[in-house]
Amino acid sequence: MIAWVCFVLATVAIVVDGNVIDGRKSLVWGPAIELPELDLPVRYFFVQLVGSDGLNITRPPQNSLVVGWTAPNCRLKRQTIDRHDGSFVVRFRLYDACDQVEFSLSTADGQPIAQTPYTIRKPSGRPLLAEHCDCGQLPTTDEWLTMAKCPAHFAQLDRDLANWSDRSVDFEKALNYSHQRWTGPEHRYSSAVCHYQIINNEHKYEPTVEQRAFADFFNYRYVINVDGTVAAYRLPFLLSGDSLVLKQDSSFYEHFYHEMEPFVHYLPLKGDLSDVIEQISWAREHPEQVARMIANARQFVHDHLQPQHIFCYHALLLQRYARLLINTPTEPNSDMEQVSKAAHDYYGQCTCDKRKDEL
Ligand SMILES: *[C@@H]1O[C@H](CO)[C@@H](O)[C@H](O)[C@H]1NC(C)=O
Ligand SMILES: *[C@@H]1O[C@H](CO)[C@@H](O)[C@H](O)[C@H]1NC(C)=O
Ligand SMILES: *[C@@H]1O[C@H](CO)[C@@H](O)[C@H](O)[C@H]1NC(C)=O
Repeated sequence: MIAWVCFVLATVAIVVDGNVIDGRKSLVWGPAIELPELDLPVRYFFVQLVGSDGLNITRPPQNSLVVGWTAPNCRLKRQTIDRHDGSFVVRFRLYDACDQVEFSLSTADGQPIAQTPYTIRKPSGRPLLAEHCDCGQLPTTDEWLTMAKCPAHFAQLDRDLANWSDRSVDFEKALNYSHQRWTGPEHRYSSAVCHYQIINNEHKYEPTVEQRAFADFFNYRYVINVDGTVAAYRLPFLLSGDSLVLKQDSSFYEHFYHEMEPFVHYLPLKGDLSDVIEQISWAREHPEQVARMIANARQFVHDHLQPQHIFCYHALLLQRYARLLINTPTEPNSDMEQVSKAAHDYYGQCTCDKRKDEL
């Protein structure tokens, strides 16, 4: 009986599109594997199944990826997201500091994938930290930028800061101004340098429609990115799916918008959305261009919008902004309130140094 089972496993290859999945040729990559030294708020990697002919599998059978995990003495939550196009996002979340996390990847017929088994550990030998932990041993910004392999420049940042080429940000003045401007009784909800309020929106824009869960967006062939109160922050998520993104023209932007091109990464829509029907008709008549835009958008997300890229941008922004300050604030104002970290500790105690615990 056992011999028979083994025989079957060894000879039944999974055939897709007339193509056979080749485990070792399949691809595994992503931030959790490439940058283990960084404790970013999310850890994941990608798997792309590849056929024996070297081409990506695009229509795999159900449950074609098997993931096995080992994380000694650590609580770990794991998730495999099937993108239904031969690729997967494998995510894990740590609830404890962990010396290392091991995992193995195989196809449904038991072939090991790529370099399986994998071990994620920090080259420095320090433990991997739970995402929510603030362990207070932060490197300097320069060290972090190097660890994260950040680019030296973001084109948008250079453009945005060009007007302050001299050291000319007077933060005290800005703080005074925002204090005067936004602390009146009519601004009872908040006062901040970056300011807006949302009041009774739901009544202003009636009738509303039934809400869709985010995960269900990709059940649709086309998704529209429309501004809300400011830029629609969901754009990176939309671009990473397998639907065509129709992006509203807008004066709002995030730091990566200008690196994308209409008709290359997304289909543009006029600011007033008057051409929605026309653009969808165009998309229906041009399936090849649409498929290319979807693939380009996803590649863009892989290349520019992984967690380390977002953090690189913000680290560089804050570093460069700090250099522009005329007067660096050192003491908080007496009317500021310190918010304790403990108030945000939703996941229980943070153990920052695993080794110390075990001794
Ligand atoms: C296969 O998929 C990988 C990962 O998405 C991608 O980088 C590569 O360009 C694809 N190859 C082909 C031939 O489409
Ligand atoms: C820079 O200043 C010019 C002139 O005041 C203004 O038109 C432009 O919008 C500013 N650019 C940025 C990025 O703030
Ligand atoms: C900011 O406001 C304080 C208190 O009103 C004042 O003493 C200070 O001169 C102001 N600073 C600037 C740069 O306007």
